[in-house]
Amino acid sequence: MTGSRSVAIVSGKGGSGKTMIATEIGRIFADVGSTILIDGDTATAGLSYFLVLKYVRNIQRGYSTYALSDDPPPLTDLLLDLPAPHPWPWRFLPIGDHRRLALRFLGTESTHLREFLGPVIARATDEAEYVVVDCRGGIDDESVAVCAVVDDIILVVEADATSFQASSHVVDVLTAQGLAHKLRGFIINKAIEDPTAVARNGPVTFGTQYLSAVPFDLEASRAFLISELTDRYSIFAIHVREALSKAYPELIRPSQARIWTREDYSDLNVLTPESARGGVLLGGAMATAGVTCAVGLATGTLPSTLPWLIGLIAVLTVIGIAGTIEPLRRIFGRMVRLLYRGFRRKGV
Ligand SMILES: Nc1ncnc2c1ncn2[C@@H]1O[C@H](COP(=O)(O)OP(=O)(O)O)[C@@H](O)[C@H]1O
Ligand SMILES: [Mg+2]
Repeated sequence: MTGSRSVAIVSGKGGSGKTMIATEIGRIFADVGSTILIDGDTATAGLSYFLVLKYVRNIQRGYSTYALSDDPPPLTDLLLDLPAPHPWPWRFLPIGDHRRLALRFLGTESTHLREFLGPVIARATDEAEYVVVDCRGGIDDESVAVCAVVDDIILVVEADATSFQASSHVVDVLTAQGLAHKLRGFIINKAIEDPTAVARNGPVTFGTQYLSAVPFDLEASRAFLISELTDRYSIFAIHVREALSKAYPELIRPSQARIWTREDYSDLNVLTPESARGGVLLGGAMATAGVTCAVGLATGTLPSTLPWLIGLIAVLTVIGIAGTIEPLRRIFGRMVRLLYRGFRRKGV
């Protein structure tokens, strides 16, 4: 189809969230035109298992049929549609029998899997306005073949050093292959901390624009694990839309929902075990001090003069305020952990 737009979702390593993000990007494109989602990860077939396992009887059917059958059907027959009541917004091209497909090309010199995969994806771009390909983790020959036939590439990065390094390797390979100009931008996925520093360093390292961070969203992950599409208004979906609206401002409107700021990420950090421990410690200290003072005043062991009372209230107020300050809670939480370790080492 003329004027079609195809995008490959790549990352430096597996588990970065390509499959989840590709699915959401497919849904957003499907709002503006006919869309095909393709599983291009012949190693794990993650997208095929995610979408097909629960709903489709014959999981062996997909583009592997081209390589494994003497008389393959036309591509349109291999595209899957999920009927009502929960229709997919896109048509889906699964791999089919990915293990037999890999074996079919194992050790062959003449026809590599990469030479097979490129044309399959190119053919799909004739069938829809938008094509989204979920690629294999890392950048091997197959992902390069996919990147060579699509129009654009979106890089999914996690905010840790390993992912950052692996992602720069992806960019190096794309550059060596003359494909780096296809990069539309990078997404920082599973963000659990303020992503500003990574967002600032990324464009220099990856040579492409920062699109958005996508917060770690437990609800969305849970849906993914039980083969359900995430809620389109979930934190995850809202931020993927934000990223896509930056990559395709002429096509995709930004989300109307609020995008997370630094403060939202620090609220997420309140849930860290250290912070929780610190909170318990400060809460416990306040309760103990309060009860001790009350008992002391009632029994006369503590003087009930005005300066004493003011002093007591000041101490309780300081502990109370410390309990509401997140970095302080974490410092106290860390102290509890270190003390606990010290006691264990001494065998107390
Ligand atoms: N933003 C996110 N928040 C929470 N969990 C996520 C997020 N993105 C991905 N995940 C989880 O991470 C795991 C790997 O995601 P997946 O999309 O399969 O990665 P990949 O395709 O890169 O291997 C899955 O369990 C998925 O639910
Ligand atoms: Mg995957």
